[in-house]
Formats: sequence, structure tokens, C-alpha cells
Amino acid sequence: MTNIKKIKPTIILIFGATGDLAKRKLFPAFYNLYLDGRMPEKFKIVALGRADNSDELFRDYVKTNLAEFSRNKITSDEAYQQFAANITYFQYNIDSEDSYSDLKLELDKTDVIFGERANRLFYLSIAPSFIATISNNINKFSLAANPDQDRIIVEKPFGYNKASAVALNELLAQTFQEKQIYRIDHYLGKETVQNILAFRFSNIMFEPLWNSKFIDSVQITVAEEVGVEDRGGFYEGTGALKDMIQNHLLQILTMVAMEAPSSLQADEIRNRKADVLKSIRRITPQEVDHYTVRGQYDAGSINGKSVQGYHTEKGVATDSVTETFVAIKFYLDNARWQDVPFYVRTGKRMQEKQSSIVIQFKEVPHSTFSSGNDALLPNRLIINIQPAMDIRLQFMTKKTGLSLSLKPAEMVFDYFSCSTKSPEAYETLLQDALLGDPTLFMRSDQVEEAWDVVTTIQEAWEADKVSNLHKYHAGSWGPEAADALLARQGHAWISNTYKEVKEKVADGNYI
Ligand code: BG6
Repeated sequence: MTNIKKIKPTIILIFGATGDLAKRKLFPAFYNLYLDGRMPEKFKIVALGRADNSDELFRDYVKTNLAEFSRNKITSDEAYQQFAANITYFQYNIDSEDSYSDLKLELDKTDVIFGERANRLFYLSIAPSFIATISNNINKFSLAANPDQDRIIVEKPFGYNKASAVALNELLAQTFQEKQIYRIDHYLGKETVQNILAFRFSNIMFEPLWNSKFIDSVQITVAEEVGVEDRGGFYEGTGALKDMIQNHLLQILTMVAMEAPSSLQADEIRNRKADVLKSIRRITPQEVDHYTVRGQYDAGSINGKSVQGYHTEKGVATDSVTETFVAIKFYLDNARWQDVPFYVRTGKRMQEKQSSIVIQFKEVPHSTFSSGNDALLPNRLIINIQPAMDIRLQFMTKKTGLSLSLKPAEMVFDYFSCSTKSPEAYETLLQDALLGDPTLFMRSDQVEEAWDVVTTIQEAWEADKVSNLHKYHAGSWGPEAADALLARQGHAWISNTYKEVKEKVADGNYI
């Protein structure tokens, strides 16, 4: 890997520097990279905002936020000042051309101080409606005129359907080459998500079994305990399908299902992922009710605390039909995965925060033990993404004792047993963007394919807003219809029983 200290000086421009993402994720990520010696030798962060602010005031604001959101806390004022000296506040008006010509002067001035033309990394942490204005002005004022040095990071949501994503790609292409555009999906920066590829393709023992001959079904769950918090207004126009499935869950699915890339070249990996998205069988409008379940949370309780229903959340209409839960059964039409159901689900206000992948293997063709009293549980490989970060292999074993009876056992690899220092997803992704490595970012075709996968579902739900919107209690595992979706093929959501497994382990009933 290129030594980041050795790359050219870099100017990072954060549009929306006073916003929530910058406060919670971006500045903490840059700060932690800095502490770990993973920032370029020379860099400057230009924080762009509408409000009148001085460098000093803005640096104090960042300091206050770091105290709350950074994984490494500030140990001394002196250490913080060294980092903060690289931050400049730049007041601008998004619509005013004067702002962009002033910005050009600022960038040129910084190049002179650095003694060479610096790399430029534009981070758009702003509402999607502002992307066109900023991108067009970057073009007009030639702010990103060097395709080998200048890059732009665009946050999700990337469009709101396929047509708008295509239009956004076309718009960005007027200013940037594809290699300069970094479409971020923070799930791809998570340690445990990156490990899926390492785990699959650097071990001989799983890959031969990783296909429809041995795998019965796959489940991907991203369950959250939180509700919509203070984002009700945004969420009303979005819903779980667009907020989570189109991006995070489909990206995880591609990593579970992709073929082995021949190298770690960014485009090689991205080609293999795009192949998966293309192979996902499109759900026809007539099939939407059969293959999908949408839900919305009612009042309930989580960890013994009462929580309100979606309808009474701030910014939410009392008769809203926005879904806060989605479950879908996908099939992949390719040689590896024919007829293996891929169940994905996500929801807010669920019983536990839990993101996991469950690979359930087929039953043994003939079991010597099938006539006994012991139920054989299928082998499962569970990859926990968060908050647990582990890989669990479940299998049957002999109970210790004189008789020959069986019980399930588990072998666990826990990340925290190896290292307690796991970088935040944004640290990984920002470092890659600084280095110019787009592997963990989405290419234009991937985003468009992912929208294509959800289009019919989106259209069917928009056409019939009410029927089949299932209510579920906050603190549950979602609507019963989501259980029925799996029960039709004799399956059940594994994490519904996950707590039970843990209890069994505690009781000694599980090895
Ligand atoms: C975001 C969604 O992309 O991901 C949020 O917009 C969601 O609604 C969040 O809460 C979940 O991210 P994480 O990293 O907390 O699992």
C-alpha cells in the first residue's frame, strides 16, 4: 500500500462542514487518522459553511464535537492545536459564483504555500438537491481540473430511483471522470464487512462449499434499536427500502455472493460485485407481495423502556405509510446460486441492534443419527457485523457421557480477542479516498443496478400505499408476515432465536 505520508499535499474541502455527518463522523475520522499517522504529511481541511465563523471558533466547535464523537479523546490541548492548525473555515454561499471564485483563490494560495499543486478532495456532505450547483461550479471555475489529483466524494442517497441515479451520474460526468468519483456506502468501510472477502477467498475450506450444492439459504439482517430520531422529515420521503436495502444490504449481499476476483484491483472487484447485482432475479410487479414484506413500527418497549410509534415521531405525518421495516426474498440466477433463497431484512425499533449474515448449510444426505432422539440442527456459519463482531461456526457434536447422543456446538472467532482497536468505517474510507483507491466505493453501474433491483418494489408500494403495510411493535423482530415469508420454505429468521442460543450457552445446554 502507498505510504500516505508520501502522497502529495492534499486539500480536503468539506461542503456542509457544520452539518451532522461532519460533526459525528468526518472530523472524528480525520482526527483519528491524524493521531494514527495516517494523514498526508501536508494537508489542509477547508470547512465550508454558510454561517459567519472564524477559524478559531470553528476549531473550538470541532474540539467540542470530538470530545463527544471521537473514539480517541483529546488528551492535551497542545496535541489538538497541532491537528486544528490544519483546519480553515471558509464562509460561502452555495448559489453565488463569487464564492467559487474566492474558493479558487484560496486553493491557489494554498498550493503556493505547499510549494506545488496539491491534491484536492471534495466531500459533498450536503442535501442531494445541492449537488448539481456545486458540481457545475467546480466545473465552471476549474477547481477539479486535474483528473489524476482531484476527487469528489458523494454521500448517499445517490438518487431516489434508477432514473435519478442515471441523471446524477450524467451530471457528475460533465465535471469528473469516473475514476474521480467516490460514491460512499459506509457499510463497505466496516471492518467486519471488509473481512467477508478476506474470509471467503483466503481460506480453502469454505469456498468449495460456497454454492447451491451445499448452502440451503442465506440471511442478511440489519436490525436497529433506534427509531428515526430527529430525521423524521428526511425519512418520510425515503423509507427503509431506499435508506438501507438499495445500498447497505445489497452491498453486503454482493460480497457474500460474488465470484472470486482474480486480483485486488478495484475494477476487478467491482466487476464481480456488479455481476451479482445483474444476476439478482428482478421481482415483477405481480410478485411484489409474494416476495416482500413492508412494515411500520407502533409503540412498544425496548429494553424495558416504552417507545413511541412511528406516527408520533417528530416530522412524521400521523397517517404516514412510510415503511420502517423491509424483508425480501431474492434469488440469483447464476450457476453458483440457483434456487438458494437470499433473505434480507432491515428495520428500525427492533428488539436488538444486530447486523449479521447467516449461511445455513444443507442437511447431511443420510444421517446415521437420524433415528435417535436428538434433533439435528443444520450447520450454520454466522458472520456478525455489529455490535458483536465475530464469526461463529455451528455444528453437531457428541454430548460428553456414556451414551451416544448429540448436541449443537459453536466455534467462535471474536475480533476483540485479536484487537480492541478497530478503525471506524469512515476512517478506512477517507484514507482510501486520500490515497486514490476506489475499491470500497461504488461505481456508477453498481449504483444503477442496485436501483434497478428495487425499482418494481418501489413502484408497487408507491402505487398501492396502504395494503400490506404491516404494523409491528417497537421492540419486536418485525411483523409476523416477515416470519411467514420464510416459513413457506421451512425457514425461520435465525436471530429470532439468537438470544436463546446465548442463554443455552450460559445454561451449559450448548457447548
Ligand atoms: C444510514 C441510514 O445510512 O445507516 C440510517 O441512513 C441508519 O437510517 C444507518 O441508521 C445505520 O448505520 P450503522 O453504521 O449505525 O449501522
